[in-house]
Amino acid sequence: MEETLHRLQTEAETAFTAVSSLVELEEIRVKYLGRKGLLANTMKQLGQAASEDRPRLGQLANAVKQEVESLFFARKEALEVGSLPPKQALDLSLPGRFVPFGKLHPVTQVMEEICAVFEGMGFAVAEGPDVETDHYNFEALNIPAHHPARDMHDTFYVSDSLLLRTHTSTMQARIMEKQEPPLRYIAPGKVYRCDSDITHTPMFHQVEGFLVDRQVSFADLKGVLTLFTNRIFDGDLPLRFRPSFFPFTEPSAEVDIACVICKGAGCRVCKQTGWIEILGAGMIDPEVMKMVGYDSEQFSGFAFGLGVERIAMLKYGIDDIRLYYENDLRFLRQF
Ligand code: PHE
Repeated sequence: MEETLHRLQTEAETAFTAVSSLVELEEIRVKYLGRKGLLANTMKQLGQAASEDRPRLGQLANAVKQEVESLFFARKEALEVGSLPPKQALDLSLPGRFVPFGKLHPVTQVMEEICAVFEGMGFAVAEGPDVETDHYNFEALNIPAHHPARDMHDTFYVSDSLLLRTHTSTMQARIMEKQEPPLRYIAPGKVYRCDSDITHTPMFHQVEGFLVDRQVSFADLKGVLTLFTNRIFDGDLPLRFRPSFFPFTEPSAEVDIACVICKGAGCRVCKQTGWIEILGAGMIDPEVMKMVGYDSEQFSGFAFGLGVERIAMLKYGIDDIRLYYENDLRFLRQF
C-alpha cells in the first residue's frame, strides 16, 4: 500500500504538471482525488492493513492526499489566471472589496441556545401562530371567559375571538390534541402583552416546554430546569421555586435565578431583591389533560414557560430590556 501511495503521488504530480486546460485538469482531479478516484480507492484498503501499520499508513495517505490537492489548487489558479484576457488577470494591487455582514440579534442567539439545550435533552421543537384564538390562549388552558386570571395577561385583541398570543402555552393544547403521550416539546416564539417598562416590552419572546408521560413528577421538572440553567449560565446558579398560581398547572411555581447583575446584592433590575424571575412552571392541570382527551389517571406532565429577553439580560449583564428593540447598532454590534 505504501508503494501504491508513493506511486500515485508521483503519477498525479506528473499529470497535474502536464495539464494545459481547465477541462483536462478536472478530469485528472476526478481520476485521482474524486470520491471514487484512485486515492480514495487506495485509502479504502487501509482497513485490511495490519493494525500496527494502520496509523502510519493512514498518516501517509492523508499527507499524499494533501500534497496532490495543493498541487491541484495551484494548477487551477494558474490556469484560471492564464485563461483570462490579460486585462482581467488577477491584479494584486487592487484594494479588497468590503463585504458588509450582519449578525443574529442577541435575542435570536439566546433563543437558539436555549432550544439547543432542550434539544440535547430530547425535546422536539414546534412553532405556532402569533395571532391565536381565544380557545388556545385561554379556554384550553382552563381559563374560561371572565376568569380573573385573564386580567394578568394584558391582552391585545384582534377581534372578539382572535388575539395576539400572550404566552407560548398556546402550544400545549395544540400539540396534545394531535398526539398521544409520551411527548416532550419546546415551543419558542413571540408573545405580546400591553405592558412597557425597564423589564417589560409589548412584544417579547418565550420558550414553552412540556413533557407528558407516565409517572412524571415535580422532581423531574426541577431536574430539567436545574440542568437547563446550569448549561445556559455555565455553572451553578442558585434557583428558587416560589409557590404560585396558573390555571393550567397544579401545583404551580415561579422560578427565580440569583441576579447575576448584582450577584444577589440588590439592583434596579432585580428590584433590590437579589432574585430575578425567569420562568413560570408547574404540573399540567388534570383539567387541561381532560380537555385534550388524555387520561389524567394514567399520565402526568410538567410545563414551563421562560422569558428569553430576561435570560439574555442575565447572560450579558444588560440592565434595560428596551435596548434590544431600539436597533442601536452600537448596542447590537457587541454580540
Ligand atoms: N404561560 C405562563 C406565562 O406566560 C408561564 C407558564 C408556562 C406557567 C407553563 C406554567 C406552565 O406567564
